[in-house]
Amino acid sequence: MTMNEAPRFSEERLQEIQALVARYPGPQSALLPVLHMAQEDFGYLSLDVQKYVAEVLGLTLIQVREVVTFYTMFREQPCGKYLMEVCTNASCMLNGADELVRHMCDKLGIKVGETTPDGMFTVTEVECAGACSGAPVVQINNVYHENVDAAYIDAFIEKASKEDAA
Ligand code: FES
Repeated sequence: MTMNEAPRFSEERLQEIQALVARYPGPQSALLPVLHMAQEDFGYLSLDVQKYVAEVLGLTLIQVREVVTFYTMFREQPCGKYLMEVCTNASCMLNGADELVRHMCDKLGIKVGETTPDGMFTVTEVECAGACSGAPVVQINNVYHENVDAAYIDAFIEKASKEDAA
């Protein structure tokens, strides 16, 4: 999708959505999975994408926005090539998540929720990732990294940057 192009699902995706909606008593029940599909297809849930999802499911924009703004897993802004989501709930916080977030932001020169100017890294905080025994946990592009410390993150950033430059 280019900048000014209206968001449109592919035919295959629309069929997938139709099949999904048919399994539920009403289209609103399919909203969560359809938002995941939209985020996967369009990169993030811009207002235009949210309007389009509302149109596809026959819902109001506010019904869509209520869900999008409630869950931290939905993004309304574009993110970097590497989305680094740090869990800052109890177990992770007690195991250094706050210090880890500070370290990541200092190293990358950004604040929480921001993306590096080269478009490579975004740092966000999320609620419990459901892997508390591996605290602190960082999800990077949906892959769990457990027992993460500053050295681990430094090595990850260095490797990812080198790979991108190659
Ligand atoms: S508190 Fe971080 S994974 Fe549960």
